[in-house]
Amino acid sequence: MRILGIETSCDETAVCLVEARGDFGADFSFEVLGNALHSQASLHAEYGGVFPNVAKREHAKHLAPLLMHALDQAGELQPSNDAFLGELLIPLKELLAREPELFASLIPYLAKFKKPAVDAIAVTNGPGLEPALWVGINFAKALSIIWGVPLVGVNHMEGHVVLSMMDDGMLKSFDFPALALLISGGHTELVFSKAFGAYERIGETRDDAAGEAFDKVARLLDLPYPGGPHISKLAAEARAEAIESQFHFTPPMLKSKDYDFSFSGLKTEVRKIAEANSPLSQEMKKQIALAFENAVAEVLVAKTIRAVEEYGASAVVVGGGVSANAFIREKLQKALSDSDASAQLLIPPAELATDNALMIALAGYFHARDGRYADLAALSANGNLKLENRA
Ligand code: KG4
Ligand code: ZN
Repeated sequence: MRILGIETSCDETAVCLVEARGDFGADFSFEVLGNALHSQASLHAEYGGVFPNVAKREHAKHLAPLLMHALDQAGELQPSNDAFLGELLIPLKELLAREPELFASLIPYLAKFKKPAVDAIAVTNGPGLEPALWVGINFAKALSIIWGVPLVGVNHMEGHVVLSMMDDGMLKSFDFPALALLISGGHTELVFSKAFGAYERIGETRDDAAGEAFDKVARLLDLPYPGGPHISKLAAEARAEAIESQFHFTPPMLKSKDYDFSFSGLKTEVRKIAEANSPLSQEMKKQIALAFENAVAEVLVAKTIRAVEEYGASAVVVGGGVSANAFIREKLQKALSDSDASAQLLIPPAELATDNALMIALAGYFHARDGRYADLAALSANGNLKLENRA
């Protein structure tokens, strides 16, 4: 089955064409036929964060060119002699009435190229920024109408989970039950999973997400958005130079009996230090970054290990942009090796940890394979979409 994945939940616009076969298990395999991504990070860096309407406009501008790029890589960008839009132009105009930019960029493509060999379209329908999600959904609906192929709505977080389970076109070999640690710009959750597609959330952040905390602290240190990689780099430099931080942040909720997290207090502590020492020297920034990253890593690792032991998980699946963090990866791996629980760590390569459309295509594939298609009229964006158990 060939699945086109579309991702626009935050600040990455991405399109990916995947060919996959087999059920979730040893006989599953896939190839990436075409993959295109545009990050708005540098644009949002100017504003210090993601503004939903700026993100929406950028998605609208980039989706059609990215689609063409991905299809071209796949050898599926074939010129068409007969414009096949015809009567479909009317429903398309209706569908995209509130997406004039998308309409303007999509129509010239649709008028010029043949329907590619695609069996289904998978699109992120949440969680994320609703205006941003809607562009992707409407784009997917337009293609679904024109090409006559079915739609699948994909939970973005499930995309992260599924991608972490893959390696080199196959499923990694591991056993359930698994514990998923989802750490991104919008989410921080621990999810227990008895089987593929079964999700039980056992803890979540009560305020800021882990990635959001990295981004906010970076802003306090005058570092660009997204802040995670910059904080991480400063902390790594501090470790390499054996700099001792004069600061120590108590890892928030480390001792609480539940699996919840809280990161907004850390940001407040950093703000106080930043204000008291303004302007911050580079040395001071390194010390703060080091102490901050240590605190975040400590609480993420401690709670994950405790959950692995309590729930008897055989695998720990880490997903979301913060899983690109080298220090957190290393600490988690070490803690798992030291623990009696001996669970296997499943982590995506750093370049696939942040948002992309491959994860959406793969998660969508398993839904499509089970016939869980979305109704075109009913498919809508849900900014707070929760991981749902498969029927
Ligand atoms: O999953 P993702 O690409 O988008 C969301 O779904 O939110 O995650 C983006 C988040 C940002 O907050 C970014 O600062 C963080 O992931 N991030 C990192 C690193 N790379 C990205 N955080 C810490 N260390 C990193 N190396
Ligand atoms: Zn994400």
